[in-house]
Amino acid sequence: MKKKNIYLDYNSTHPPNKALITKAQNIYFENFGNTSGLSSFSQKAEYLLETSRESIANNLNFKTDQIIFTASASEANAIAVYTSIKPMLNKKKNINIYISPFEHPSVSETVLRIPNAKVNFLKICPKGIIDLEFLEKLLKNKKIDFLAITQTHNETGILQPINEIIKIIKRFPVPFLVDSVQTLSRLNKKSKNEYFYFDHTIDLPIFFTLSGHKIGAGFGTGILIRPDGKYSDILKDNIIYAGGTQEHEIRPGSHNLASILAFDFVLKAQLNNKTLTENIKKNTREWECLLLKEFENFLPVKIIGQHTERIPGISLVLFLNVPVDFLLMGLDQRNIFVSTGSSCKSKARSASPALLKLGLNENEALSVIRFSFTNLFQDKVFVINELKKIIKKLS
Ligand SMILES: Cc1ncc(COP(=O)(O)O)c(C=O)c1O
Repeated sequence: MKKKNIYLDYNSTHPPNKALITKAQNIYFENFGNTSGLSSFSQKAEYLLETSRESIANNLNFKTDQIIFTASASEANAIAVYTSIKPMLNKKKNINIYISPFEHPSVSETVLRIPNAKVNFLKICPKGIIDLEFLEKLLKNKKIDFLAITQTHNETGILQPINEIIKIIKRFPVPFLVDSVQTLSRLNKKSKNEYFYFDHTIDLPIFFTLSGHKIGAGFGTGILIRPDGKYSDILKDNIIYAGGTQEHEIRPGSHNLASILAFDFVLKAQLNNKTLTENIKKNTREWECLLLKEFENFLPVKIIGQHTERIPGISLVLFLNVPVDFLLMGLDQRNIFVSTGSSCKSKARSASPALLKLGLNENEALSVIRFSFTNLFQDKVFVINELKKIIKKLS
């Protein structure tokens, strides 16, 4: 009999919502005109695109003209970085970029490619939260030209106090990128304000980024949001590449209508799921309690960031003195799918800078397994028993 799949790698990609993606694809099959064309057939496709934009904007409490569609969050992050920094290149000799140690490589490695820029890490408190006093001091002294802080760290789930940071930025304005990719999938209408409430009227060059496949809408859509909507401020010279006039020319290229429609449908369904966030919180509580209890007399394990505010549905577990690559393979053979930290880097096994900054040593930073899920984690006891069996075999 085929073993059941237990998928616990939602941060890598959320399982696709087949029904809603199919619905979106069927609409696209009937309306496949190029959204930029002049014919009435194209205009129908454009109407569908703009209706989705409006619906996504309404659901996220933004305005329609603040939303830019891209192909992925990586692309949205790169656009935010380049369009913010390029105007400074001819004006400033030294550009000071400050990023949190929790950035996805689409931010942390993109900024490293900017010529004449010095990339610095923001200080964090021992629990993993950005040191706001230090940040304020830097901003006050005009030491920062560009700032990037990921809202939810993709490995640990540690949440940064974005609203408080925005309050500081309002007093000392600076271009600011907030990667919210890992936050969105855990939210419904009720919880949205708890985790995703920003001052949407800010008249500052702040960017938020999102990704469709992280909420179950399939691959192909990222979103860039600039709450002041001032895309016209971005000069053509500062745009990464040229092409059509789509998305204010900031992101030229034909639209992936099916994927954008799917983003809208999945987001709507998710936000209307009244029990989603509560169930993810309950699952996280139960899973982490059980894991710590069951391992108490078996093997020392630690949940990284356990006592810091985290988004529910992410547990990064340190298995001390266990060869985690073999543990991961053992789980894989039992059709339990997890990852060792950040998925896009998990094939290249080097210690995560974020974990080193959180105080783990190199060996510890390479001994972690990330369990990420939402409201459908039903096999907790089975997973723990299998973990124990594999670890016993490995020792
Ligand atoms: C925090 C964060 N930002 C950005 C990305 C990149 O998203 P995408 O796969 O849409 O490029 C990821 C993907 O893992 C992520 O976790």
